[in-house]
Amino acid sequence: MGCNYFPVRGLLAALRQVYFTKQKRMLTSYPARLPLRAPTTRPVFQPCSRLHELSAEEAAIYGQLDPLKIPQHVAIIMDGNGRWAGKRALKRFLGHQQGAESVQFVVETASRINLPFITLYAFSLENNLRRPKSEVNFLMKLLRSYLMGNVKRMNDNNVRMEYIGRISELPSEVQDTMQWATESTAKNTGTTLTLALNYGSRSEIVDATRKVISGLIAEAHERGCSLEDLIQVDGLEARLDEHHISGALYTAHMPDPDLVIRTSGEQRISNFLLWQIAYSEIFITDRLWPDFRGIHLLEAIQNYQKRERRFGGLGETFTDEDLDALEPAAEVAEEIVTELSPKQLAEK
Ligand code: FPP
Repeated sequence: MGCNYFPVRGLLAALRQVYFTKQKRMLTSYPARLPLRAPTTRPVFQPCSRLHELSAEEAAIYGQLDPLKIPQHVAIIMDGNGRWAGKRALKRFLGHQQGAESVQFVVETASRINLPFITLYAFSLENNLRRPKSEVNFLMKLLRSYLMGNVKRMNDNNVRMEYIGRISELPSEVQDTMQWATESTAKNTGTTLTLALNYGSRSEIVDATRKVISGLIAEAHERGCSLEDLIQVDGLEARLDEHHISGALYTAHMPDPDLVIRTSGEQRISNFLLWQIAYSEIFITDRLWPDFRGIHLLEAIQNYQKRERRFGGLGETFTDEDLDALEPAAEVAEEIVTELSPKQLAEK
């Protein structure tokens, strides 16, 4: 093994040189797809008291909530814009336009109840590839005008704007406006609104894996050893586990969503945050996104607060009595071992 832990040997060093030249070529040819200009430092979330800004109806529902159990992160699949327009014999783009209005209403309610993170699925990789060019162009224009028209309101509501997805593949003028909105709201300390744009969860996992491997190759290069040697020093398990993948996702700086909401009644996840929602609660409503408002966000949170989250365990309602009731299981387990051990089975 090499890796600066041991003296460099002549022949091995020469072989490594060839190896790294190849690796470096691979590294430089990998396209820069991750958000290049994401903020490096983020202000700490500071809750403030703006509940008096809720409408009377919202306040009535909020009054029934446990303020200590407000989710840290709500992610929403905004669906049904086209159907909303179709029901009114309107063109699809008017559904999207109305959907953009809903975004602002919902985000403002989120900021009033001190929701730290809200992530909205605004434009998927698949939307980009599979929708007619005219619709994609309209969505891009709508996004720009939404950002330009709402940054002041974001600031009034102490909301920060961020994005996840293959942002560098979006039109450059859209990227510029996005960057401007992020910079203009970067100092805010309230809710972080993250728009998932040109986003696909599988491609996010691919990007994260490439990032981890690129990091390992760069480290090996720095230490003057091969990737294989570097991995052998600590073992592959120490170098690549769930923690490394999570840390390389676009969402590395956020907690996983506690609650995922999908509008329009479809019971699908549609390639949204697949890794991050492993233990999220899912709330599906028939309401179409353009009809979704802050009050419906509060209703979803109310429903979420009635659920028992178990994370694969037995949950908080599991009592000592329940534990006692498990005792016979030990005897049964013993029996199973004696009765069904491979040896006994073979004899039967
Ligand atoms: C799904 O509706 C929604 C989208 C494809 C995009 C979401 C976009 C918005 C809410 C508006 C723009 C957002 C911002 C942040 C400015 P659909 O067209 O799939 O509806 P359908 O299933 O009824 O056809």
